Amino acid sequence: MTTRPIANRNDLEAFWMPFTPNRRFKNNPRLYTGASGMYYKTSDGKNILDGMAGLWCVNAGHGQPEITQAIQKQAAELDFVSSFQMGHPAAFELADRLTELAPDGIDHVFFSNSGSEAVDTALKIARAYHRARGEGERTRFISRERAYHGMGWGGLSVSGIGRHRRDFGPFLPGVDHLPLGYDRAISGFSRGQPKQGAESADALLSLIQLHDASTIAAVIVEPVTGSGGVHPAPVGYLNRLREICDQHGILLIFDEVITGFGRIGAAFGAERFGVTPDIMTCAKGMTNGAVPMGATFVSADVYEAFQKGPEEQIDIFHGYTYSAHPLACAAGLATLNVYRDQNIFARAAQSEALWEEQAHSLRASDAVIDIRNIGLLAAVDLMPHADKPGARAAECVDYCYSKGLLVRLSGDSIVLSPPLIISSDEINFVFDTLRQSLALTA
Ligand SMILES: Cc1ncc(COP(=O)(O)O)c(C=O)c1O
Repeated sequence: MTTRPIANRNDLEAFWMPFTPNRRFKNNPRLYTGASGMYYKTSDGKNILDGMAGLWCVNAGHGQPEITQAIQKQAAELDFVSSFQMGHPAAFELADRLTELAPDGIDHVFFSNSGSEAVDTALKIARAYHRARGEGERTRFISRERAYHGMGWGGLSVSGIGRHRRDFGPFLPGVDHLPLGYDRAISGFSRGQPKQGAESADALLSLIQLHDASTIAAVIVEPVTGSGGVHPAPVGYLNRLREICDQHGILLIFDEVITGFGRIGAAFGAERFGVTPDIMTCAKGMTNGAVPMGATFVSADVYEAFQKGPEEQIDIFHGYTYSAHPLACAAGLATLNVYRDQNIFARAAQSEALWEEQAHSLRASDAVIDIRNIGLLAAVDLMPHADKPGARAAECVDYCYSKGLLVRLSGDSIVLSPPLIISSDEINFVFDTLRQSLALTA
């Protein structure tokens, strides 16, 4: 297939780009025309090291041939079949393979098309679970400051990022937020999980006292707050949430859209941190970003609550046209093979020490006010230029791009999340380039 070359600005007008200053981008567009391994190719022929794994999703690197071929084969054999009262074998095989990878006790998977849909599905399942068990008054959700749970109404209602919410309310009623439990003065420059902050989970007890546990459906948290600035849960924090949820009959949901599939050196954050939720959401790395797909994993207990009615009755009045789409399932199965055969999760774990060392070496710059890391994730917080919030990080990101490195900014933080196949030399290149960019903004 050939695509029309972009000849002028007008060719860019029709596409309203998400999360983008459209006019600025269209005045100075950056277009990518190819990708292989760690690198993107730009329309003007440059190779750019992908420091973001696309958007936290291309965990095995770009263009893995097994994934590409599986998608091509599936498209030729069976392009589409619904999952409403029919199905195709790859959907069942993928669900099986995923539950093998998930922590013990997480035995069932509901498919959707994105992290946002996976989150909204999780919230709906949580409410319906309580209702199925005669506790329909449990409708409240507890989330956390700085949380990102996608762009659906449910996910946005539990979002902890004010700027994402500002223009779109009102949201679901009955949502409260736990504190992030991060104080730069105490936990700044932590390596991996901060040692302090677990006690902030006890804020859940105050909310239980305020609302009564009998009104609370679920607590939803990211094991590592991703888009909200790479904040690994403090040591003991997730265990404490698990304990309190168990004591009060509240479901615990982990949003593993970023932390799933090797990003922090294990299949899931649940495995790395040794805490098993009742419900877990995934997307992104599940298909290595090659085809959109989301999944909501649930425990046997949650699934069984929906299996009590007459056999001919629909279990849950929820689903999407493209739930378990054949192309996504083919991509998902091939992706799991690649992760297994190329030892991708273990490679991430092995690279973590150098990644951490290099990330924290940036502390020498006066511009840097905090660095956080875990697995192959990192955030570098910069001291903003006076009266110009975001400008300093933007200067760094632009410099990096000019030197062939793609990184992301979030306010005055630089965020990194490369494909897990990154080599030692490439890790050194990422942080050497960032160091040069910091020297220029000082
Ligand atoms: C933790 C988390 N949840 C949900 C989402 C939403 O996923 P999607 O953009 O696929 O809808 C994201 C996206 O970055 C995420 O990081």
